[in-house]
Amino acid sequence: MESIKQLNIDNRSYNLIVDLGCGDGGITKHLFGKHLPHKRLVGIDVVDDMISYARNHNMDDTIEYVKQDMSIGWPEIASPRVRQLDGTVDLLISNFALQYMPDKCQVMNTCSRLLSSTTTTTTTNTGGIFHANIAILPDLNKKLVTTKGPPKQWYPTIDKQIADWKQSIIANQLDIKQLMTIDYDWTIDRQSMIDFMPVIQSNYRSFFKNQSDFEAELNDHLSDTLFDAFVNPTAPDPKPNAWQQFIADTTVTEVVVHFITIRVTAVKQKQIN
Ligand SMILES: C[S@@+](CC[C@H](N)C(=O)[O-])C[C@H]1O[C@@H](n2cnc3c(N)ncnc32)[C@H](O)[C@@H]1O
Repeated sequence: MESIKQLNIDNRSYNLIVDLGCGDGGITKHLFGKHLPHKRLVGIDVVDDMISYARNHNMDDTIEYVKQDMSIGWPEIASPRVRQLDGTVDLLISNFALQYMPDKCQVMNTCSRLLSSTTTTTTTNTGGIFHANIAILPDLNKKLVTTKGPPKQWYPTIDKQIADWKQSIIANQLDIKQLMTIDYDWTIDRQSMIDFMPVIQSNYRSFFKNQSDFEAELNDHLSDTLFDAFVNPTAPDPKPNAWQQFIADTTVTEVVVHFITIRVTAVKQKQIN
């Protein structure tokens, strides 16, 4: 919740807000819906269960939930409701969802496309506003243990990931107003860590060109590397069996995972006619 409050979203009146990757709608309704004056708020998520849960538990008169994969290119987006939002959104918020999108430039193109070029609601004279918290994943290159040959180096450094996000935002007619890097320490209980591992793995899908290259890396060794990178990011040497040791040692009841987040505010460039 702190991460959202720190987005410092101006609580002026908005015609249309989109929450991209809204999950179960809890934050959509209780934070964005309750605290940001608006006419309409649309939550979008790719997972059926999330949308069903949101519709059943987090509805309100002004809120609607739409199922759509937002990682695909604009021409392929099939939802008529999402297509209707083209160029009309005053405020696009995304909390810890964009890191799942394999093609940063493509998703930023969609965000820019959705945002209005002029706000129609207020005294301020800007284009639509984009606020996001995006997880940056630890640099695995230092943690990859290779028995033969050079390390694979398939993984971009933290600086490269941040530079890629910046580039993708700027390349899509959005002016960055603020971009902060924040260190996160998150204490997580044993079972949640075990449940979270496949989610962490899915984040890394974005760095592979295709699903089969990604699946080829999905073995115990990747879990060891990911766990080591999240839990011991500054340790000088890789711990080759970090995940297997955690699983075997049931006395470990919680761990602290460390990662970096970028908090971005950007504004759609106004269209000059
Ligand atoms: C970590 S959750 C965050 C949920 C919510 N924003 C919150 O802060 O509670 C990330 C969400 O992004 C959604 N997501 C991942 N990939 C997506 C995609 N391609 N299109 C739309 N939503 C996606 C997931 O289904 C998940 O609900």
